Amino acid sequence: MGAYSILAKYYDTLMGDFDYDGYFEFIKDKLVGEGVDLACGSGEMTIRLAKDGKKMMGVDLSGEMLNVATQKAKKRALDVKWINLDMTQLELNHPVDFITCVCDGINYIDGKDLQKFFDRVYDSLKAGGKFIFDVSSQYKLEDILGDNLFCEDYDDVTYIWSNALGDGFVDMDIDFFEKIEGDTYKRIEESHRQYIHSVDFIKSCLKNWRVEVFDGENYGKPKAKSKRLIFIAEK
Ligand SMILES: C[S@@+](CC[C@H](N)C(=O)[O-])C[C@H]1O[C@@H](n2cnc3c(N)ncnc32)[C@H](O)[C@@H]1O
Repeated sequence: MGAYSILAKYYDTLMGDFDYDGYFEFIKDKLVGEGVDLACGSGEMTIRLAKDGKKMMGVDLSGEMLNVATQKAKKRALDVKWINLDMTQLELNHPVDFITCVCDGINYIDGKDLQKFFDRVYDSLKAGGKFIFDVSSQYKLEDILGDNLFCEDYDDVTYIWSNALGDGFVDMDIDFFEKIEGDTYKRIEESHRQYIHSVDFIKSCLKNWRVEVFDGENYGKPKAKSKRLIFIAEK
């Protein structure tokens, strides 16, 4: 199965520990007006930004993730536009004030396509507009996720997540064992590839921008062993 098809159903449960609130507090006052959240997934950040009064559009490649996001926004009576699109093909009919891409979205873009993608984002922003995104760091992908295996057991699903470190990427195979009834489980597989991008490489693609980098867990100065790095790039 393609990335984020079966995972969409369990994504919010699996992300239970992710600090969306802290991340939102860190970025909310840096952003005003109209924005696009790329690789918005189940919409956790898009919805927080919309609730904060920003006019939001959420873009994602996975229809299943967007379905989850749409339902959540509907429940909260939020007017968010959701678009099922490959963000590397982004084309807006007018420039916006800001663009976000949180929690690994950039790791799904092959290094050879990254410059073109950043250029598209640049063209989609007003002068002075901000692009806030993060990446899972090279350290996290190589030394923590690398060739490792992770499993978790929930009431209705158990998963085994096995990674294989390649040259500049990590291939991730997730086996979900979904409870049907009693002791009967259905096994469904899904595969992802995340690309490793060094800070220097990302900065080299952002030459036209003013860029600041932060640690994605404490929002302070980045360290050699930061697992997530947040980039604030201003056009
Ligand atoms: C780890 S999830 C992050 C979702 C969300 N931003 C969050 O913070 O929870 C990564 C998301 O990137 C999306 N994605 C991957 N490649 C994409 C692409 N080329 N265009 C748009 N979305 C993409 C996936 O469908 C998935 O929803």
